[in-house]
Amino acid sequence: MLSSSNPSGSLSPASLARLLGAWNTGAAAAYRELADVVRLLVLDGRIALDVALPSERALAETLGVSRTTVTAAYTGLREQGFLSSGQGSRARTRLPHRVAVAQAPGLVAPDGVLDLAYASLPATGEVVHRAFADALTELPALLPGFGYDSLGVPVLREAIAAHYTEAGVPTSASQILVTSGAQHALNIILGTLAGRQRKVLVDHPSYPNALDAIRASGSRTVPVPLPAVPGTRRTPGNTAPGSGPGWDIDAMVSAMRQQRPAMAYLVPDFHNPTGRVMSDLQRRRLVREAAGTGTVLVVDETLRALDLDGVGTTPLAAFSPAVVSIGSLSKSHWAGLRTGWIRADEGLLARFVATRTTMDLGGPIVEQLAAARLIRDFAEPLGARLDALRGHRETLLRLLAEHLPEWSFERPRGGLTVWCKLPSASSTALSVLAPEFGLRLAAGPRFGVGGSFEHFLRVPFTLPPEQLTTAVLALRAAQDRLDAAPQLRRTLKEPEVAAIA
Ligand SMILES: Cc1ncc(COP(=O)(O)O)c(C=O)c1O
Repeated sequence: MLSSSNPSGSLSPASLARLLGAWNTGAAAAYRELADVVRLLVLDGRIALDVALPSERALAETLGVSRTTVTAAYTGLREQGFLSSGQGSRARTRLPHRVAVAQAPGLVAPDGVLDLAYASLPATGEVVHRAFADALTELPALLPGFGYDSLGVPVLREAIAAHYTEAGVPTSASQILVTSGAQHALNIILGTLAGRQRKVLVDHPSYPNALDAIRASGSRTVPVPLPAVPGTRRTPGNTAPGSGPGWDIDAMVSAMRQQRPAMAYLVPDFHNPTGRVMSDLQRRRLVREAAGTGTVLVVDETLRALDLDGVGTTPLAAFSPAVVSIGSLSKSHWAGLRTGWIRADEGLLARFVATRTTMDLGGPIVEQLAAARLIRDFAEPLGARLDALRGHRETLLRLLAEHLPEWSFERPRGGLTVWCKLPSASSTALSVLAPEFGLRLAAGPRFGVGGSFEHFLRVPFTLPPEQLTTAVLALRAAQDRLDAAPQLRRTLKEPEVAAIA
């Protein structure tokens, strides 16, 4: 969650104005537009919960609107349950009960609110539980130690190294730093290689929390668009191996040459949100041509195990020792393990460790012991997980084709999500309306910079088929509401981050 509040949990009028962007489009009454945009910011996490909003008078002055407008907006938000109604004190952000229940990732509330903003799965049941039980039996051997290990416990580093070696990238444990998940890994890398006055290239769209982390590091984002899908794919069965538009390597390399980013953050394996996979041919070219540019290639392989079409990707590090890889057990096994890693050459790894100790002094031991077990037997739970996901993917693609024929989509080769193209720039409006239809959505612009992707919506296929059916019917109903009242459509602009080369 991007925290836009100060440490005391309040938002200044200027900060809120910045987050609001071009909120006042004139498409509806100003108080209504203001309330809608604040609601969206709370729903998608850009305003944290329990944050005090500016006073009505201060916000009215900063936005250049009448105090009545702000009062009416706050009143509406209070009535909908998005603001506290504390007397005297400043209004604080909260979630209405119906939405709050659905905040637990992967959880479907008893009252039927479905969370399509998360793309995550419950644990691979038994296997994860057993790994923790085994970890507890191994724990006594480590208790005489201090318990601090900024590199990670040796058995886990060895298991991760062996996992890379098996995948065709010879690796020693000295090249592995264990982290608390992939997001932590990225923050360590950003803290080492990026920062103010530096640029970070990203494939565009990209994973929203990574974009937030890049922004928070003070770096400028250099987005390089993923090529559009030629034509509209309406056929759920189109699985030709190697098909698909892939990445625009020429554009990436020319951005590297012209803009000199310090690093590139890429998701070549079942890209989030598109589910796309980079071919070996493109991997080889990218690594070869990036070599002289000074840009460090950082690849996030969090979704690599979710290979639904049996593509069998080669880790990018197999093509060059200079590539930095991020991995995680969050999607293959369980996000609750909070265990990920960085693979890099030893020199760079030493710099990452130095950065890591400014953030924390190591990960919890039991989780690491359990993770080592899971990695040693990596494939054990995956067969069932992939079979289920293939079924969910087919169900979702069929439902979308049947109920939302005006939407088009790219068939994902793996991962957890379908990136849908909408017939109009209405993603934000849909996600604002969604809670009324029992859904929570992440709007397309969360996956981009500069307000891009209003025409897109990411729909995960992580829910079981019955709930996917409910979700798609709810999306249909929300789309119908929007079609009947097109004035609800408006674009939420985020501040411009960087030009595309
Ligand atoms: C591409 C990508 N990277 C990182 C993450 C977060 O991983 P972790 O839970 O290991 O921090 C996700 C989660 O959705 C993701 O899709």
